[in-house]
Amino acid sequence: MNVTPAERIEALRHQLASANAAYSERDELLIPDADYDALMRELQGLEQAHPELAAADSPSSTVGGRPSSRFAEVTHALPMLSLGNAFSDEEVADFVRRISERLRRPALHFSAEPKLDGLAISLRFEDGHFVQGATRGDGSKGEDVTANLRQIRDIPHQLQGSGWPAVLEVRGEVYMARADFEAFNERARQQGGKVLANPRNGAAGSLRQLDPKISAQRRLSFFAYGTGQVEGGELPDTHSQTLRQLHGWGFPVSDLCKVVSGTEGLLAYYRDIGARRDGLAFDIDGVVYKLDDREGQQAMGFVARAPRWAIAHKFPAQEQSTTVEAIEIQIGRTGAATPVARLAPVAVAGVIVSNATLHNADQIARLDVRVGDSVIVRRAGDVIPEVVSVIGDRRPAGTVPWTMPTVCPVCGSEIVREEGAAAWRCSGELSCPAQRKEAIAHFASRRAMDIDGLGGKYIETLVDAGIVRSVADLYRLTRDTLLQLKLVLDAEDPSALAASYQPHLPPEGSSAVLNSAMKLDGGDAGWRAQALAQPVAFTWNTKKIATRWADNLVAAIDASRDATLERLLFALGIEHVGESTAKALAQWYGELELIRHLPWPLFKRVPDIGGEVARSLGHFFEQAGNQQAIDDLLQVGQVRITDAHPPSAKLREGLDSAQLLVEAEIPGITRLRAEKLVAALGNAQSVLDAEHGQLVNAGLPDETARAVATWLDSEGHGEMLLKAEQAMREILQKAPTQVQQAAGPLDGQTAVLTGTLTALTRDAAKERLEALGAKVAGSVSKKTSFVVAGTEAGSKLEKAQSLGVPVWDEDQLLAFLATHE
Ligand code: IVH
Repeated sequence: MNVTPAERIEALRHQLASANAAYSERDELLIPDADYDALMRELQGLEQAHPELAAADSPSSTVGGRPSSRFAEVTHALPMLSLGNAFSDEEVADFVRRISERLRRPALHFSAEPKLDGLAISLRFEDGHFVQGATRGDGSKGEDVTANLRQIRDIPHQLQGSGWPAVLEVRGEVYMARADFEAFNERARQQGGKVLANPRNGAAGSLRQLDPKISAQRRLSFFAYGTGQVEGGELPDTHSQTLRQLHGWGFPVSDLCKVVSGTEGLLAYYRDIGARRDGLAFDIDGVVYKLDDREGQQAMGFVARAPRWAIAHKFPAQEQSTTVEAIEIQIGRTGAATPVARLAPVAVAGVIVSNATLHNADQIARLDVRVGDSVIVRRAGDVIPEVVSVIGDRRPAGTVPWTMPTVCPVCGSEIVREEGAAAWRCSGELSCPAQRKEAIAHFASRRAMDIDGLGGKYIETLVDAGIVRSVADLYRLTRDTLLQLKLVLDAEDPSALAASYQPHLPPEGSSAVLNSAMKLDGGDAGWRAQALAQPVAFTWNTKKIATRWADNLVAAIDASRDATLERLLFALGIEHVGESTAKALAQWYGELELIRHLPWPLFKRVPDIGGEVARSLGHFFEQAGNQQAIDDLLQVGQVRITDAHPPSAKLREGLDSAQLLVEAEIPGITRLRAEKLVAALGNAQSVLDAEHGQLVNAGLPDETARAVATWLDSEGHGEMLLKAEQAMREILQKAPTQVQQAAGPLDGQTAVLTGTLTALTRDAAKERLEALGAKVAGSVSKKTSFVVAGTEAGSKLEKAQSLGVPVWDEDQLLAFLATHE
């Protein structure tokens, strides 16, 4: 059946209008952005080809959705417009040509800016005070969200500096930084709350909360990109100067904004930002080009919903739709069973995605994802792609809800769920090859022991072959074993493998497994025969590459033997122990021998380590297998800790038997009661030996005394407490009595920051350098110790170079901070 243009236009208008309404009124995403854009383009194309079918209320000429009635309505003094889109280089060239021709100017300058993916906002300042903030709404009327905007730290309540107009409307984007989005969702997943589909929904949903307190719980950010009404004052003549002025009045302006010239300049900017997109702290869906001079802007004017002097150049969408072909579970380092959706491959923001995480069983239940469903997947930054939502009206018949399997697909152990936790776990611990492989891969990873070259596929085979059973086995690997491993795994053609075949095999039958892993058949003689038929140069080269790899790997394994305590602690892969916890533990306790025998309550002496992390550490060190692995590392592997030191004097503060009783989380024991108990009975040991009557005499209510006695008698609690008391004595004996004031590594040095940094703001860089003892100055002189130059560094960099002052790039700065903080 043929559809007429009129019918198609009608259908498109309907679909787009309902998507607009769902999005702007309920923050709901009915269709992914890429599909939305495609439908909008189709509609615009048809409307152009059929002017007779034009309609004023078509979604192609209206902006967003109507304001919802929950908030007071605000009529914008100047309408808040939208932007036209360019999707290709040609469309950008057309945009530049149109302006050039109309203004009769060959050379044009543009302000090129990131297009943040958030929510457009207008902020009204009267006499420098923030008086009202509103959403865009339908472009002429929005919602009054002043109270919620006041919770955003980036938005000044009072303008800084001087010279602002009596009435100033600042326009910009409210957005949720990726880290804040991830943190919010992580918490929501753990607490079974509602997760946000993407940062933009997070920003929109949060701003439209009626209760500003709820809105304050989600961290939002803001950046200014323009102005609305201006009265009683003047703004600079160009957009870029206006942005600089806004920055001076206290508004964050993205430091990615840049003035560029001509089509070439715009396209180079697009490519540059595109290349940096994944590493940015926030989502962007494109870049925006704006003619820089205001006069030119006025001459160009507007079309229905957008200015003619600006355009958005879109990036490939970070969300796409595809179908779920299977849902499998993956077993992680600590046994957590993570459901993963196997997808029909789809390009998302320039990368083919065929797997996406579903996080946990609760998340699947919340989204009701089923095999066969059409879903929206999102890939942003370095975060693993995830399934965001199910497209309900595309569900095929006959799908069934998904349930968590009861046994581990890798080792067959039971999959269990800890009480109160969102995660299900394989109970096989290190007998499960999946957990072992993950643990070993983590151990070898860059931020852990940094065994460069030992990638996942090698670990996989080494574990399957039984050559590596624990991390210490890595230190037993010989060059020959590695050489053969490499040749077997990298051989695209069995003859290369045959040529490399060596009679001296790795330990016990491992080569049989290596070979079967490659599904090769034919005996040794067969391989040799094949190898003889091959040109020698090819096999020789293969072997040369493999030999170099094996040599490098042996060297990397060797180098990893000298490790700092924090690296080794992190490398052990203890649940909840990330780099910063490992670092704090190492700083506070100083010695592995002390740490590995600490009863869990003592871990809580380290700031930022709470009950959950402390218990996880205690649990890890209680496992005989883990203690054995540590012994093996130290003895067989000859791993040496390079920076052992006595426990910190800070541990002494408040460390006494009473505190131990509190930190052991004994039911009913407060600090006050613990002090009374210790005062009456002496120490933890005597509390342990005390009769019910003595506990009551020492001030415990009858009930509490009973609960304490029961607690002490159960699950080895008494023994644990004794050990804790012994460890406490050891710490008090070893720790120096004076807190030493460590000298900062940059004491006496002067640094200068210039150019644009991407991973951190200049302020943050300054703060961190100062924390290490440096003075941060504004200009370069002979006395400057070093200059940190980001991108587009100008005269300060030149000056540093001419004076011979050392220059660091951003990577060097980050590396320095990482090793010295
Ligand atoms: S300028 C008259 N600049 O993109 C020009 N918009 O479709 C109005 N956006 O609603 C917008 N970053 O929410 C402009 N640097 C930027 C932007 C930006 C993000 C959003 C804004 C607007 C939408 C345009």
